[in-house]
Amino acid sequence: MSGMSQLLVEDRLFQAPKAFSKKAAISSMKQYKAMCQAFENDFDGTWARLAKETLYWKKPFKTVLDESEAPFYKWFSEGTTNASYNCTDRIIKAGLGEKTAIIFESDAGDVTRISYQELHERVCKFANGLRALGVGKGDRVVLYMAMSIEGVVAMQACARIGATHSVVFGGFSAKSLEERIVDVGATTVITADEQMRGGKQLPLKAIVDEALELGAKSIVKNVIVYKRTGSETVPFTPGRDHWMHDVSAKQSKKCEPEWVEAEHPLFVLYTSGSTGKPKGVVHATGGYLLWANLTMQWTFDLRQNDVFWCTADIGWITGHSYIAYGPLSVGGTQIVFEGLPTYPNAGRFWDMIERHKVSIFYTAPTAIRSLIKASDLNPDTHPKNYKLKSLRLLGSVGEPINPEAWMWYHKNVGGEKCPIVDTFWQTETGGHMITPLPGATPLVPGSCTLPLPGIMAAIVDETGQDMPNGQGGILVVKKPWPSMIRNIWNDPERFKKSYFPADLGGNLYLAGDGAIRNAKTAYFTITGRIDDVLNVSGHRMGTMEIESCLVAHSDVAEAAVVGRPDDLTGEAIVAYVVLKGARPEGEAAQKKALELRNWVNKEIGPIAKPKEIRFGDNLPKTRSGKIMRRLLRVLAKGEDITQDTSTLENPGILEQLKHAV
Ligand code: WTA
Repeated sequence: MSGMSQLLVEDRLFQAPKAFSKKAAISSMKQYKAMCQAFENDFDGTWARLAKETLYWKKPFKTVLDESEAPFYKWFSEGTTNASYNCTDRIIKAGLGEKTAIIFESDAGDVTRISYQELHERVCKFANGLRALGVGKGDRVVLYMAMSIEGVVAMQACARIGATHSVVFGGFSAKSLEERIVDVGATTVITADEQMRGGKQLPLKAIVDEALELGAKSIVKNVIVYKRTGSETVPFTPGRDHWMHDVSAKQSKKCEPEWVEAEHPLFVLYTSGSTGKPKGVVHATGGYLLWANLTMQWTFDLRQNDVFWCTADIGWITGHSYIAYGPLSVGGTQIVFEGLPTYPNAGRFWDMIERHKVSIFYTAPTAIRSLIKASDLNPDTHPKNYKLKSLRLLGSVGEPINPEAWMWYHKNVGGEKCPIVDTFWQTETGGHMITPLPGATPLVPGSCTLPLPGIMAAIVDETGQDMPNGQGGILVVKKPWPSMIRNIWNDPERFKKSYFPADLGGNLYLAGDGAIRNAKTAYFTITGRIDDVLNVSGHRMGTMEIESCLVAHSDVAEAAVVGRPDDLTGEAIVAYVVLKGARPEGEAAQKKALELRNWVNKEIGPIAKPKEIRFGDNLPKTRSGKIMRRLLRVLAKGEDITQDTSTLENPGILEQLKHAV
């Protein structure tokens, strides 16, 4: 991956293609600036107008932004609405009932299409089934599923009855799942018997059972199982477990939505932070859905004949905003894909774009980088072998996209005619924050360019003072926006401390990233996290989470985890470990490293597995006992230490930690 210096001198400029701008919803910088100005002139009034125009409100709101309990902001307080109604009934009422809502492609390549009418029916029947099991407004429902129409149906059905869903990514371990079920207090878990990934059947229900045994069974009353593979070996507990098709069978196709207040929590989604415990990010119904919808229109310029494909998993925020809610809320047609980009070969994405005539494609830099590498090894999988003419817009999300990957994507996938929207945002922001508008913004590879209208992003120093353009600093947002995080589930203190820290004055939203604005263009470039959060293949991982997991192993005395730049995954996890016994060497070290990697895999999940483990008799510490992580970062990169190490208690230890097992 490119170093920061290379990002900062990047000066290639790509103007919005004329053919694109001509039809775009936002077609010039002049229009973009006018939209920003509207917010400057009348912040509340502009949001109010958009909220009224965009969503169906059962009961209109009066207050736009309520700051009385800041930073616990409230939006559209008196209004009532329903996310599922907005994503299905409203679309059908607009005459799009027969339109394809979802084109599902399975791992093996089987294709299923469902219309808005069919989606509506399935959501309503399942929602009624959930109600029949006693699930209702405010109850929490955990989903542990793979990519499927049923996953989307389950999320929408929860929204329909006012239940708050919490999706746990299907790659997390039983223990991670159990922690999340317990923290959110879920009474119902929805899962599948198994999932299909790259031709393999992988367990889901068995892991749910394990999570229940670990402790979650004291609160979970119902487990609902989507029959995906029909495997006979899947455990089933009568009374507690129900097949999803049985829950929906015999239920009415009509289901009166639960009209919830705008602030009603639509979902809780766990993400990594600076401590060992993941944070349950709470999103509110009205504001979240408004922004999911507007960004579909603004960033993706979605039109009625588009075929939209976001390759994220519904277990992450990208799959929430740009699969489960955004595309449906605008009546779009989208692809939902079960499988892997590399199965049966690394041409899978391009083949699917060709077959389904995808026009808007949204993926992560890590996927692009791995497909570049794969097409070098096997030229048959190179995008040039596929007809990708249907594409008109490309997107990138989840981590910085290095200019080389950007250029490859632009040339080989976009045929040099598709704008690329490099969308910067977070689980906490609910939707895009800083991104080009494809019909307006001139693009610079590696820059997410400018904030969306209404998003008051800025760069400040440690005290909250504005930094001039050209000088890096801390990325903040100066004013609330409708889709912002509302709270951390069960932990309002942590919410305040994490996102509205007193050092910055208590009223700036702290994103947790560093950024710099170009001196000439004022474009933003994200320079990476400023906290202890790593970004591995676009997945957020807290170093503390992995450290606590390592020290929970009976042989480990101490551990420190840092990130190291990696060409393929963006960052790679490097763990420094001190064992309770002697420092292992040679084969013994290799065996122990393997054991610890498997341990992390079992405890958290494969995404948290350290790429490298290094053993030491100790860790580099200051005389006051603080681990000097910046030195560990230098060592992880394989660089020599040039910094002053005189404050170190034990400088001799550095030599031991230079080499991976
Ligand atoms: C990083 C994913 C650079 C950033 C939607 C952020 C990015 C974290 C970009 C959030 C981008 C996301 N350019 N960095 N376009 N998009 N990030 O919560 O560090 O999984 O704070 O949300 O990913 O990750 P999360």
